[in-house]
Amino acid sequence: MVDVDREFRPLLITPDPAELRRAVRAARREGSLIGCVPTMGALHAGHVSLMQRARAECGFVIVTLFVNPTQFGPTEDLNRYPRPFEADCEKCRAAGVDLLFCPSADVIYPPGHATFVEVLHLSDRLEGAVRPGHFRGVTTIVTKLLNLTQPDKAYFGQKDFQQQAVIRRLCVDLDIPTEIITCPTIRDPDGLAMSSRNDYLSSAERNSGLSLHRALCLARDKVRAGETNLAAIRLALRAEMEQTSGVSVDYATIADPDSLVELTEPAPHMVALVAARVGSTRLIDNLLIP
Ligand code: PAJ
Repeated sequence: MVDVDREFRPLLITPDPAELRRAVRAARREGSLIGCVPTMGALHAGHVSLMQRARAECGFVIVTLFVNPTQFGPTEDLNRYPRPFEADCEKCRAAGVDLLFCPSADVIYPPGHATFVEVLHLSDRLEGAVRPGHFRGVTTIVTKLLNLTQPDKAYFGQKDFQQQAVIRRLCVDLDIPTEIITCPTIRDPDGLAMSSRNDYLSSAERNSGLSLHRALCLARDKVRAGETNLAAIRLALRAEMEQTSGVSVDYATIADPDSLVELTEPAPHMVALVAARVGSTRLIDNLLIP
């Protein structure tokens, strides 16, 4: 929802940290709350939902667009990651974003850059086990982006459940005062969680990718129906994906939503998390089980 009383401001697009800081200082002087939505671009309705939430809650909304090399492994898709810059700018405009910060890699990581931020333990599980170093890249760039934008609130998607958990830990541990807001996963009508990487899928692969959400719903329904054997539910979660052609499961688990440690007994709050490769594309998804 866009605040109708807000004075119209055209989208300011800048790759320059100094210009970003000037704009943030000016917005603060006006008394605006600053909201930040970090992204790697190739924006879709999931990203837009974060922008809309920020727009509804903050006087000055920043989107950051940076395909962060340090969170990609050496064999991952950094080079082929989609970069539809003009379409991304248009989506920011349509969502009423005030500033799009799109720095280049040499501004963010100039020669001599030697500092990394690491959240222990939480970063080693699940995604971290399959993608070593990934969260070190995420927590380093998010720390830098929060330092650059100095937001009151920063918006992340539940889609990347472990990422938001790691970032919450990061902010608590490093006394970063930004409030972390986690927004619900936006899905296509058939249940596939929206992702910039869905663009890689052929239509047959996309069909196979639906097994992730189907498996998560199955697990949730079993809990709702009174099943208490989490080991059996985990097996069913995995089986639902594995019996789908072309799907290779990385993990399928039910965990504590804060620590992401696998649960052996049912708890009041649980999260089911899955990751699988469909062809050469890696998909992740999750569902909270209340
Ligand atoms: P990116 O994959 O572009 O995602 C940016 C934000 O959009 C993340 O918080 C992600 O969880 C959220 N998002 C993605 N798909 C979503 C969906 N279907 N529904 C709701 N939210 C969704 O995540 C990253 O970029 C990077 O790791 C980043 C945090 C920007 C650091 O580089």
